[in-house]
Amino acid sequence: MSFEQIGVVGGGLMGSGIAEVCAKNGIKIILRETDSSVLEAAAARIEKSLDRGVKSNKIDESQKEAISSRITYTTEYSDFKDCQMVIEAIYENEAAKIECFRELDNHVVDSQAILASNTSSIPIMKIAIETNRPENVCGLHFFNPVPVLDLVELIPSLVTSKETIERAHTFAANQLGKIVVRSQDRAGFIVNALLIPYILSAIRMAEAGFATPEDIDAGMVKGCNHPMGPLALADLIGLDTTMSVAISMYEEFNEPLYAPPPMLRRMVEAGHLGRKTQRGFYDYAR
Ligand code: 3HC
Repeated sequence: MSFEQIGVVGGGLMGSGIAEVCAKNGIKIILRETDSSVLEAAAARIEKSLDRGVKSNKIDESQKEAISSRITYTTEYSDFKDCQMVIEAIYENEAAKIECFRELDNHVVDSQAILASNTSSIPIMKIAIETNRPENVCGLHFFNPVPVLDLVELIPSLVTSKETIERAHTFAANQLGKIVVRSQDRAGFIVNALLIPYILSAIRMAEAGFATPEDIDAGMVKGCNHPMGPLALADLIGLDTTMSVAISMYEEFNEPLYAPPPMLRRMVEAGHLGRKTQRGFYDYAR
């Protein structure tokens, strides 16, 4: 059985990308944000991304209209009542995610509905046990930019049912056309467990004055053929998200390699969060 109506909580970089990709694949989406100005920003982000698709001839104007018309915007959890799945993509904070899942548990009527988290690093079990249906909860972790990157990590907790795992896998692979990899429920899963220490090492290198951000990034782009260097990638992910993921992983493993360096903390405190604030390791205002 395929999914026809899905809820997405959070209209930031990840939530709007997830909503767009689902709508492109014919699924009706209800996107929830906390207030109308944030919803407007999410709608504008999706519009801009669809325009890129039109410009590069991936979709035409009528397809763009059809995709946009499948997405409705709300501030109410109660609008999720008929959803067959809800994907949470709010900011990386355990308490906020738990509160969100309690709301979903209260409002989503279908007892078979899947409640998925796009968390980058918070163990799924911590969220699942706060609901009355932990067997329906799993992690579905997308990658930024969601319309471009093919991967989804599927993370069952110890109590996720086999049926939920198979339905979530089929959804991501067959309905969205993503490549699905499965990870055990450990903070960081597969990709961030490898990526975050790499990015933190690059930040430590810049902090120590070992090399400039430009040269660190050029080293990895030109020397290893990465599409972008680690500091440009941190700016793309968001320095606040990078720090939150690092903190979750440090809490889980107690390994120094996951500890956020002071330079990252200071930049986040200063509001230099990367592309989204136009300032991070690079200046995007110019
Ligand atoms: N929406 C839609 N399409 C987009 C897009 C977006 N936001 N961003 C880029 N594209 C499309 C462009 O239209 C273009 O398509 P075309 O080639 O058919 O015209 C294509 O992607 C390439 O884009 P650009 O030419 O603008 O730029 P680049 O070639 O420099 O690619 C990039 C940009 C796709 C961001 C590339 O640099 C890249 O893949 N970087 C690595 C990103 C990465 O590692 N992401 C993972 C982050 S980790 C994560 O998300 C997990 C989290 O938990 C932390």
